[in-house]
Amino acid sequence: MRILAIETSCDETGAAIVELEHDHIKILANIVGSQIATHEPFGGVVPELAARRHAELLLPTVKSALGKSRPPQIDAISVTAGPGLMIALLVGVEAAKALAYAWDKPLLAVNHLHGHIFSVLTAETSITSFFATPKIALIVSGGHTMIVLVRAYGQYDIIGTTQDDAAGEAFDKVAKMLGLPYPGGPEIARVARIGQADKYNLPRPMMDSHDYNFSFAGIKTAVKYLVRDLKAQGGGNGIAATADIAASFQAAITDVLMAKTVAAALEHEVSEIIVCGGVAANDCLREKMLAAVKVENLSCLFPASNLSGDNAAMIGIAGCLKARYNMKDELFSVRADPKWHI
Ligand code: KG4
Ligand code: ZN
Repeated sequence: MRILAIETSCDETGAAIVELEHDHIKILANIVGSQIATHEPFGGVVPELAARRHAELLLPTVKSALGKSRPPQIDAISVTAGPGLMIALLVGVEAAKALAYAWDKPLLAVNHLHGHIFSVLTAETSITSFFATPKIALIVSGGHTMIVLVRAYGQYDIIGTTQDDAAGEAFDKVAKMLGLPYPGGPEIARVARIGQADKYNLPRPMMDSHDYNFSFAGIKTAVKYLVRDLKAQGGGNGIAATADIAASFQAAITDVLMAKTVAAALEHEVSEIIVCGGVAANDCLREKMLAAVKVENLSCLFPASNLSGDNAAMIGIAGCLKARYNMKDELFSVRADPKWHI
């Protein structure tokens, strides 16, 4: 079975072709039309502009994912129906409905968070073996930070979530304070490479809360006052100071993410961890997770580098799994739902 997948939940316009063959899923095409240039002047995603750009970019993106095949060689369409920005989701959902109706193909509604979790499922791993053992998934993106116990396909328990900002959001806001461009996560990671991570001792909020919830507002505020104090002393604007703050911030946030995720795996006696979402691209987080799982005799899966941020291939993978476990045409029932629960 071949699926055309569409993703428009935030600021990436994505289309992909993904194939389910027996017990394996293969990505055949994955096109992402980035909107960074659209939102950069505003320092963050402007929903109305995101929706307008999706409307402009979606068909050319779908066309380039489909390539020259006419009529399209697909058996179904999957689309992100939530969670995300309502007006952005609507563009993808309505376009997917129109294409499914015109081509007489079934439509599968996909939860964006399922997409992130399944982004780690590679063509080499069989679906049966993937779901044979439970997993702890850390979803870290610009909109979400949560720890999910994946018991089996369709059985997901949120065991921890952020009480304020998402981790990616904290990266983006701290980058802004440091005068770094949007999106801030990769920028913080870049300048942190030449910084000293133990230069400033920033808080590790909720590290000892004995649960799996997060809070990042405290680290953000601590950086705000640190920048203010350094500037007052005449030393906050240099490249070295920026790199040290970025490295210290990154160290604090990744310490908490790593510690809580590993603790969740140990408590639930789960040996495999998934780290997914845009922040999963962060090298410091990856290194810390890999070091910690080695010590605890666990293992950790990350998405390929082009699958950690928002993309349609992961929506295609989730669509293939839905087709395999629970095939049902949702053409006339799908609704964009900005708060769709995992
Ligand atoms: O998953 P994603 O593309 O979109 C959402 O679903 O939110 O995640 C985007 C987030 C942004 O906040 C971005 O700054 C962050 O992921 N990000 C990173 C890195 N690359 C992207 N954060 C830290 N380090 C990175 N290397
Ligand atoms: Zn996402």
